[in-house]
Amino acid sequence: MSIEQLAETALAMVAPGKGIIAIDESTGTIAKRFAGVGIENTEENRRAYRELLLSTPDLNEYISGAILFDETIRQKTKDGVPFAQFMTDNGMIPGIKVDKGTHALAGFPGEVVTEGLDGLRARLEEYYKLGARFAKWRAVINIGDDIPSGTCIEANAHALARYAALCQEQGLVPMVEPEVLMDGNHDIETCYEVSEVTLRALFDALYNQNVALEGTILKASMVLPGKDSGELAPVEEVAEATLMCLKSAVPAILPGIVFLSGGQSDDDATAHLDAMNRMGPNPWPLSFSYGRAMQSAALKLWSQDLVGNYAKAQATVYQRAKANGLAALGQWTR
Ligand code: 13P
Repeated sequence: MSIEQLAETALAMVAPGKGIIAIDESTGTIAKRFAGVGIENTEENRRAYRELLLSTPDLNEYISGAILFDETIRQKTKDGVPFAQFMTDNGMIPGIKVDKGTHALAGFPGEVVTEGLDGLRARLEEYYKLGARFAKWRAVINIGDDIPSGTCIEANAHALARYAALCQEQGLVPMVEPEVLMDGNHDIETCYEVSEVTLRALFDALYNQNVALEGTILKASMVLPGKDSGELAPVEEVAEATLMCLKSAVPAILPGIVFLSGGQSDDDATAHLDAMNRMGPNPWPLSFSYGRAMQSAALKLWSQDLVGNYAKAQATVYQRAKANGLAALGQWTR
């Protein structure tokens, strides 16, 4: 796979006014989301829910691709079309979550490292055959008393870079996600500092592992005050801090940056993205790869009537995609 082909896919993922829908919740995570609205966590319910999302009419107007979970990329629509095929037929790029989740980092209480490198080359080869053209790996950085440690940041950056190099070898665009969690009572400055040092370590590691940035997408968290800090940062402050942090740590050659929503309200996630794009021009397209901020309204509606609310739930997915697509252009209005 040439760098040119990877770069082409990466640019298509962040095409103007388009972003990614993240529907790659592991079976454990979707269990929590389903439990929250009283849906039974069966394989068929997971399949039906992912079909509802992916078959939202005209979704491809604002959605360039979706991140699937291992189970989902092996599932089919009710008409028997594999989801990856269904997406490609509808002009959306299939992506796949390939990490195996976070595990306690031995010797560093309160910190985690993402696992999943063992056997990854073979798994990527299979995912490519199943139709995936990009892959996601999520590292989690916790903020707390005396954490994150440099060791935790380095270990996660190293794993992200090893995964990214393997992705490119196997023809998939790596979407590298170092998520600095919103949990905690830290202020926005602390989030800024931790995000900056994390991004610097990540791009050093990518360079050291010979990862071509032209064929890489960053999935970033925004610079926000901790959820329990009691601090309410205005939209412009979050947008300015996030932009400044990214500009100081992310090379301009990167084809694009997409954000995770990370527990922000739907509107906040959209407003922050919109504000950053209004502050442009920026070195890279800035778009979205939201999970919760794309799905929560739809999941709630669907849970109230799995048959009767199907189309209504899809209509909210379309609305969220449209709002975020406009925010990716800095053209969203409340
Ligand atoms: P949220 O937007 O719900 O944070 O999810 C995005 C994601 O893929 C996290 O890995």
